[in-house]
Amino acid sequence: MKRVLVLSSSPRRDGNSWTMAQAAAGGAREAGHDVDVAHLADYVEGLFRDCRTCRGADGACTIGDRYEELLHERVLPADGLVVATPLYWYGMSGALKTFFDRLFCYTSGSAPDGETVATGLTGKRAALLIACEESYRGATAGLVTQFQELTRYLHQELVGVAVGIGNSRGEVQRDPGRPLEQAAELGRRLFDIRVTDYRIDTVRSNRVWGRTPESGNGTAPLASATAPGG
Ligand SMILES: Cc1cc2nc3c(=O)[nH]c(=O)nc-3n(C[C@H](O)[C@H](O)[C@H](O)COP(=O)(O)O)c2cc1C
Repeated sequence: MKRVLVLSSSPRRDGNSWTMAQAAAGGAREAGHDVDVAHLADYVEGLFRDCRTCRGADGACTIGDRYEELLHERVLPADGLVVATPLYWYGMSGALKTFFDRLFCYTSGSAPDGETVATGLTGKRAALLIACEESYRGATAGLVTQFQELTRYLHQELVGVAVGIGNSRGEVQRDPGRPLEQAAELGRRLFDIRVTDYRIDTVRSNRVWGRTPESGNGTAPLASATAPGG
């Protein structure tokens, strides 16, 4: 059993990203995981500041909200993170951006236990859920790229992105693209989805999916890897 944190970052608590977050949580529960769901708004109030003037004498962040609790009690213990956000100005919500900005306060060299926190953020599986009004693919492209890069930076594995189109509360349920099913599937398969990122010299088979009984449901890589093109 893995621990999954589903973090919803819209100020609209019963909105579309929350609806997608709930679907992902349901999928992860179906897969038998220990699922924790949180509203970012309960934890993050203050913006990132100038750390030089903001840190206490012990180096700790002095912004007086529940960010530290979220980080230490819910984010760091999770094996998988599912992050839900509305699309705001073609990017993530301000609260979610602040969540990432403020990781700096806890991971930099001057933060108490900065190295331990930084290490604790790595190795997680991640998925992104986006609720937005526009279905134009370019609308979400910047956010998807940013999330790809920040998970790469954190040594996390981005397993997938689901985009739900809707504007009024809960309207994503009516999106014919079935984003709630996609979100549920991401939650269900968070730790099974095969993520590959080859280089020219990556040793690999000429097939992607296993065919033998040993390879189970076909999502496992073939057991015997050969040279490129082999
Ligand atoms: C400040 C703000 C900025 C927005 N910017 C965009 C945008 O750039 N593109 C878009 O498709 N929708 C945009 N929207 C619409 C929301 O993404 C959309 O209503 C979404 O479903 C809201 O999700 P929520 O219910 O989880 O808050 C914006 C909404 C707000 C309030």
